[in-house]
Amino acid sequence: MQDPKSLVREGYDRISRNYRGDTFDFEASGYRQFLSELEPLLKPSSRILDLGCGCGVPIARHLARRHDVTGVDISEVQIARARSLVPNARFLRADMTEAAFPDGSFEAVVSFYAVIHVPVGEQPALFRRTAGWLASGGHLLVTVGHRAWTGMEEDWHGAAMYWSHADAATYRAWLEECGFSILSERFVPEGEGGHTLFLAQKT
Ligand SMILES: C[S@@+](CC[C@H](N)C(=O)[O-])C[C@H]1O[C@@H](n2cnc3c(N)ncnc32)[C@H](O)[C@@H]1O
Repeated sequence: MQDPKSLVREGYDRISRNYRGDTFDFEASGYRQFLSELEPLLKPSSRILDLGCGCGVPIARHLARRHDVTGVDISEVQIARARSLVPNARFLRADMTEAAFPDGSFEAVVSFYAVIHVPVGEQPALFRRTAGWLASGGHLLVTVGHRAWTGMEEDWHGAAMYWSHADAATYRAWLEECGFSILSERFVPEGEGGHTLFLAQKT
């Protein structure tokens, strides 16, 4: 199999618009619910990092209305679209496992449906680095796997795609080992399976 990261990068370069158009009804979407627990905890102009930000719609666009948003994505096409769709945020094209920020750079880190594309063996170190990037008391809101699975599909929205994740109990343990306390854990159904949404706080 092709290197998973280049497969994911090339896949999103190809299917960026199939996955998400330029417009999106945030208020009617599941993202509204995801953010409803985090947003009341944030002061205006909080520094927020969105890992695997995609084209910036709807999350960066929504958060950048009140906050200072940085998005990171491995796909050049996603980042180019994000820069044009959300001009009031900043975007970096990078593998989130290789991104570097000074300790305490953010009040919150969010990541939706993106860590599940990172090979599972690299994910504990990513959470450790994420904890470092957060200011003390900062929050992490992240969708991760519900059941452990690593594999690929040949044609997902028009491109080959790769996913890799642990189960919810493993994520809970990893987050706690990295110094997070779990504020909430929710199953987010999708098709016959689903994801886990964690809201955690750096203690
Ligand atoms: C399913 S999309 C979700 C996009 C956005 N978070 C949302 O919910 O609309 C997953 C995104 O994660 C990005 N991604 C996957 N692996 C990544 C990695 N190692 N580093 C940075 N971004 C990655 C992909 O390029 C893609 O834009």
